[in-house]
Amino acid sequence: MTLSARRILLIVSGSIAAYKALELARLLRKEGAAVTGLLTEAGARFVTPHAMAAITGGRVHGDLWSLEDETHAGHIRLAREHDAIVVAPASADLIAKMASGLADDLASTVLLATTKPILVAPAMNPTMWAHPATVANVATLAARGVHFAGPDSGAMAEPEDGPGRLVEPPALLAAIAGLFAGGPLAGRHALVTSGPTWEALDPVRYIANRSSGRQGHAIAAALAQRGARVTLVSGPVALADPPGVIVAKVESAREMLDACRAALPADIAVCAAAVADWRPAEAGERKIKKEAGAPPPTLALAENPDILATLSLPGPSRPRLVIGFAAETNDVVAHATAKRARKGCDWIVANDVSGDVMGGEENRVQIVTEAGVEDWPRLAKSEVAARLAERIARVFA
Ligand code: C5P
Repeated sequence: MTLSARRILLIVSGSIAAYKALELARLLRKEGAAVTGLLTEAGARFVTPHAMAAITGGRVHGDLWSLEDETHAGHIRLAREHDAIVVAPASADLIAKMASGLADDLASTVLLATTKPILVAPAMNPTMWAHPATVANVATLAARGVHFAGPDSGAMAEPEDGPGRLVEPPALLAAIAGLFAGGPLAGRHALVTSGPTWEALDPVRYIANRSSGRQGHAIAAALAQRGARVTLVSGPVALADPPGVIVAKVESAREMLDACRAALPADIAVCAAAVADWRPAEAGERKIKKEAGAPPPTLALAENPDILATLSLPGPSRPRLVIGFAAETNDVVAHATAKRARKGCDWIVANDVSGDVMGGEENRVQIVTEAGVEDWPRLAKSEVAARLAERIARVFA
């Protein structure tokens, strides 16, 4: 395992999610890593230094003005004597300090003094995460090479929903391992969508499609195997989470778009999900009742957002390589070429779904790029994924 004997500095800042940092420290030690805890003043209000010391089995730091430590330039040693620095949870405040280069406490000073890889796992209220100030700070840090994990979407401590939850400790562990993974895509963040979407009609019924998620999940696994940090945004599927991949589970197209936006910035986006083009215009809060003698209800549909086209829009957060899929039953290349132009993506992986491809084990694809069309033979979906990951790695070589 890549974490064995690695020295990790775990910085915990002020968030209710700080209790999960203890579980992360436990998991890291289980993998053989040595963990040093550092609590900000606010972090120490959520987990005690005693709890962190008991779990890490060592001293816990927090004071920039510690006479004992600073006699030996303790902050510089903390910054240098670890193989990686993990900030989990990272508050909006600490992220802002990092982005502007402030150094007014031990955590921010260490983060400014280090040359080691930094992984930031944000945790905050969804409105704070979506605030233009935070968005700009995250983009600044990502451009400087800081790695991000999450945040996840879902219920918050306060009665609010949305992106802002700290990524769960097992997924954080995978992201930390990714910092040390070799491979041609090491240090890259790939966003992959997979599976179908479910579009609710009422609380019990929905519109869906036959996508199994096999191809998208295989691509996520293949990219992770080549060292990429992978966020997989998956609709409802009956598949296990691929190892070493951060998985955000969603139902509808709109949730999928939100989760993709929350996962940015990314270097690579692969949109393999079979996103429903339409959703019921109004999803009732109550089950639609069958009334005796009444005519069947008519279904009004509204258009869903196009996730691939949205991710392909030019701008600072556009992934460098955006790949879409095209499932066609005829004139595959002509349709795929038109789709590539319409969506604004870089490549289209086109497949002929007139046979047994949907839900099956194999796929025959053609890759439509700016340079032309590559014809691949019929292959297992895992093999298509491996070849695609290799092809992607060549772009980043
Ligand atoms: O337009 P069409 O559905 O044929 O395009 C397929 C490609 O677009 C796939 O990559 C799919 O993941 C993506 N897509 C999307 N959001 C939609 C519809 C399709 O990301 N609403």
